[in-house]
Amino acid sequence: MLKYSVVLALVALSMVGAVPREGFGPGMQDWGFAEVRPGAHMFWWLYYTTADVPNHADRPLVIWLQGGPGASSMYGNFEELGPLTLELDERNHTWVRDYNVLFIDNPVGTGFSYVEDYSLLTKTNGEIADDLVELMKQFYTLQPEFRTTPLHIYAESYGGKMAPEFAYVLDKAIKNGEIECNLQSVGIVAPWVSPIDSVLSWAEFLLNMGYVDTKGYNAIQASAIETEHVLNQGLWEEATNLWGKTENVIVRETHGIDFYNVLFKQDFAGTRSQLEQFSRDMRSAIASRATRLASEDRDQILQDLMRFEVAPALSLPAESIYGAQSGRVFNTLAGDFMKPAIDVMELLLNNTSLDVVIITGQLDLIVATPGNVRWIEKIQWSGRNNYLQSPRNAVGQHGVLEGYEKSYGKLAVYWALRAGHMVPADNPILMDYILQKHVPVYSILKFLYILVTADGFGSGKQHWGYSEVRPRAYIFWWLYQAQTNRYEERPLIIWLQGGPGASSSGYGNFEEIGPLDRTLKPRDNSWVCDQISYYPLEYFSSVKDYNVLFVDSPVGSGFSYVEDHTFLARNSSTVVSDLVVFLKNFYHTISSITMYDWEGNVPLYIASESYGGRIAVEFAYSLTQAVNAGTMHCKLRGLFLGSAWLSPMDSIAAWPTYLASLGYLDESGRERIERKIDIVNETTVQRRSGLTMDGWQGLQQTIIQKTGGINCYNVLKPTRREIEQQLENASEEVLEYGETLWWYSDTGKPHGESHSSSPLEQLMRGPVSHTLGIAPQRPPWGTQRTAVFDALGDDFLQSSIGTVERLLNETNLELILYSGQLDLITCLPGTLAWINRLFHNPLGREPFTTELSGTIEGYRTTYSHRFTHYTVLRAGHMVPADNPSAMMHILHHHIHES
Ligand SMILES: *[C@@H]1O[C@H](CO)[C@@H](O)[C@H](O)[C@H]1NC(C)=O
Ligand SMILES: *[C@@H]1O[C@H](CO)[C@@H](O)[C@H](O)[C@H]1NC(C)=O
Ligand SMILES: *[C@@H]1O[C@H](CO)[C@@H](O)[C@H](O)[C@H]1NC(C)=O
Ligand SMILES: *[C@@H]1O[C@H](CO)[C@@H](O)[C@H](O)[C@H]1NC(C)=O
Ligand SMILES: *[C@@H]1O[C@H](CO)[C@@H](O)[C@H](O)[C@H]1NC(C)=O
Ligand SMILES: *[C@@H]1O[C@H](CO)[C@@H](O)[C@H](O)[C@H]1NC(C)=O
Ligand SMILES: *[C@@H]1O[C@H](CO)[C@@H](O)[C@H](O)[C@H]1NC(C)=O
Repeated sequence: MLKYSVVLALVALSMVGAVPREGFGPGMQDWGFAEVRPGAHMFWWLYYTTADVPNHADRPLVIWLQGGPGASSMYGNFEELGPLTLELDERNHTWVRDYNVLFIDNPVGTGFSYVEDYSLLTKTNGEIADDLVELMKQFYTLQPEFRTTPLHIYAESYGGKMAPEFAYVLDKAIKNGEIECNLQSVGIVAPWVSPIDSVLSWAEFLLNMGYVDTKGYNAIQASAIETEHVLNQGLWEEATNLWGKTENVIVRETHGIDFYNVLFKQDFAGTRSQLEQFSRDMRSAIASRATRLASEDRDQILQDLMRFEVAPALSLPAESIYGAQSGRVFNTLAGDFMKPAIDVMELLLNNTSLDVVIITGQLDLIVATPGNVRWIEKIQWSGRNNYLQSPRNAVGQHGVLEGYEKSYGKLAVYWALRAGHMVPADNPILMDYILQKHVPVYSILKFLYILVTADGFGSGKQHWGYSEVRPRAYIFWWLYQAQTNRYEERPLIIWLQGGPGASSSGYGNFEEIGPLDRTLKPRDNSWVCDQISYYPLEYFSSVKDYNVLFVDSPVGSGFSYVEDHTFLARNSSTVVSDLVVFLKNFYHTISSITMYDWEGNVPLYIASESYGGRIAVEFAYSLTQAVNAGTMHCKLRGLFLGSAWLSPMDSIAAWPTYLASLGYLDESGRERIERKIDIVNETTVQRRSGLTMDGWQGLQQTIIQKTGGINCYNVLKPTRREIEQQLENASEEVLEYGETLWWYSDTGKPHGESHSSSPLEQLMRGPVSHTLGIAPQRPPWGTQRTAVFDALGDDFLQSSIGTVERLLNETNLELILYSGQLDLITCLPGTLAWINRLFHNPLGREPFTTELSGTIEGYRTTYSHRFTHYTVLRAGHMVPADNPSAMMHILHHHIHES
């Protein structure tokens, strides 16, 4: 009867397939029993990630195994990492936020799992591993979409002994083609891998922590050595008994202690009764349930919750009674309990490609840290010596030391501060850090593993790093070497994004000119590697690749950051002086990496977009001054100024006419906008601090009202709001512009702080940060960009035409401007207005075409042999993205090779 109903349940499950359901608490779930052997039923409970992803299976799957043996993973669920706490509050640091989490009640007999006959309980670690692999086979049959999802196995305590063997057997099954599964790593918390090393560390640990004196130390140590003695004789069950006896000695000598976190307060009055209870029922009090001596209550609360609320909510069968068989599980494994599993760790490190993460909590007594350190150092594997010699680095967050890490190759070890046995609960900050590092959350990770080389992100050699340009202000830079053999003979182009606050490393790189686009497909017209020019044979010999240096400037943009917002730049002078410091540091760094004098030899160009144009001209002027003063000797040759925000008032003043002539405005709308422009002009001319941005936003709002919404980056493309309405197509065309920060009043405040993260943000914060090893204690990519924009509010509408004139009068740099015909922001008439003030007449204007298209791509207007302006057809504000082949034409036309 019993078996029958379960079989029915399974059939029903496979019919609904992998449709997420509501279970208990928030979020979608699925659950069931796998009959891993006839009569042995293992319970699993999957929480689908609450992350905003198209498919759940895009995010990694993390298995959680509890210890004991006999402790239920429901403990981990409600006390450590699930979406709800035991009090049924939402947990702040739940793993479900980023990952799909699969809780398994293992071995059979644990938690909701059950056997129909006690003879079916497991007796060895190997049997446990086999049952788990069988469970996974059945799980993937029900959830086939997870087969290719990266799988990570995390486990605690005795789970830390079961998980490595499970991972090893699963890995073998994958290699033998018995199961399709994308196993990546195994992470073990407070792992019971070498029991005797734990036992032998107790006395010393307690003496050092002040819980015993020498007499107590001697008593505990004597019992531990006795345990070791029988263990060495292979008397495993006897060793288990002596382990328990040693614990009794500890409770006696310390007058009560929490084995899972020695700082956990003990009930003084209750010590005696606890002691009695503990001696009476040592195993169920400590081992078979991962509970705390001083908190039996919580154990009872958990059991009541499982039996009376969760079981009914999930409609679990009557045969499954939470915790009913747990004690038996422990007893049945008594012969295996004290056996070490170091050999399995060796197999994992020697014979698989899995990552192995070991985590130990400093306040844990039962699996005390000194014991862990000892057995980890015993592991014989090829990387052993290197591991031993690796530095042990501090890990911190927000200026607080949270722990240490030491790693080599596939092995990483973490020491968690202020944490006992339950590290995920006790130090979730360090746990988050570990997960971010070892369970990367990106959907196309599999693809990435192919692309990632030791040299950077994607193909091609790269260098990157941070440069401290002022105390506590850091600029991030990312150099892509030209993909030609003699890259050092190729010119260097610095790319400066606009905003201010938009990121070169993110936006310019992945949306405009880098070797990969945002979906990580190779870009045809990358400045680093121009693939298109390979196709026609005649161009084969003149491949034009450049060294491109993406600089996240001003500090606070992209990966750049300040430790405190008071260090943000408030005017373009600071932005530029930061860049000059940066460039000096960069030349120094890159020369020592590549053993080549870049500063003295490599022709330098500065390319920019939008507000980046203002910075580019000011930066160039500073550099020429530095060169004249002899403090730098870089070979600056020219400036590419795309959609350059050089004379903001000229651009803005041209908007009404531009919009009206394109049919977006009638006469009354035009007048309204002109009045708003007068206000902006007034506050800008008077430099009335703070008011400029108000006028600016009022102007934007009026334009949106009067045009009914317009995409200012490309007037022919849909607006953000239109895109959002077409949910089905959720195209990212406009969202991607959002990264540039420039025009945000159609969504109210900038969405920089909001939490629906854009695809670019996911890419940058996920795989890019991960691959480049951007330490998580730095603010995530883009976090400070809104603050950057606000800090430069008073500077934003100032003109740099004076500097353009000085560059023309006092230097021999070449200036190349280009404008997209569909751009509202720096619309053509506005740009022409200030150019016409500098030059009375152009020398000539001619159409240009590209090698491939044969059609007119735009017009080249030459004002002097050092000043050229391009009008680019079919392009808006982002010319390189909208008309890449025209862009390449411009670049090739003006970059001189040496
Ligand atoms: C979550 O964090 C907030 C703010 O730190 C805190 O007040 C709250 O108690 C936390 N909730 C839980 C369940 O820990
Ligand atoms: C592990 O790898 C070593 C050498 O790479 C090989 O000699 C050994 O047989 C392997 N062991 C197992 C159990 O596969
Ligand atoms: C793992 O490899 C090391 C040598 O690198 C060897 O000493 C050790 O015995 C191996 N362990 C196992 C279990 O194969
Ligand atoms: C720019 O800002 C810095 C500090 O915020 C200030 O010291 C400096 O005088 C300013 N420069 C100009 C030209 O306003
Ligand atoms: C801005 O104001 C100045 C001074 O009042 C005036 O000369 C200039 O023409 C105005 N510019 C625009 C675009 O209105
Ligand atoms: C989505 O895009 C497709 C193809 O571009 C189009 O046929 C369809 O109508 C669009 N759907 C919506 C809701 O706009
Ligand atoms: C540049 O030179 C022109 C003509 O020689 C002159 O009229 C102008 O004032 C100069 N501008 C600057 C900023 O030096």
